[in-house]
Amino acid sequence: MIPVCRLEDLPEGESVRVETTPPVGVFHTEDGELYAIDDTCTHQDASLSEGWLEGCLIECPLHAASFDLRTGRPTCLPARRAVRTHRVTVDDGIIHVHLAAEEGSAA
Ligand code: FES
Repeated sequence: MIPVCRLEDLPEGESVRVETTPPVGVFHTEDGELYAIDDTCTHQDASLSEGWLEGCLIECPLHAASFDLRTGRPTCLPARRAVRTHRVTVDDGIIHVHLAAEEGSAA
């Protein structure tokens, strides 16, 4: 379990990159949901937390592939492989990411 930041420091519509190995992007949607996925696009080497968040979709800043934050799956080319998803909780106002196991299905 990795502390990310205070909930109030990640407003809705914003995202933050956590320097884990590999890095994880944490997203606070306009609907107030929190999601975490591997931050590196599966197409090339772009940081998804620097992309454009719209609803539950994050658009890669480099070539505009879009990923569903709920499943990690790309919804359009050029990305073909899913990113891992991770569980997010808020304890005492602090956002935490629970990293998915290196192998196996996403949390
Ligand atoms: S690096 Fe993300 S779509 Fe190309």
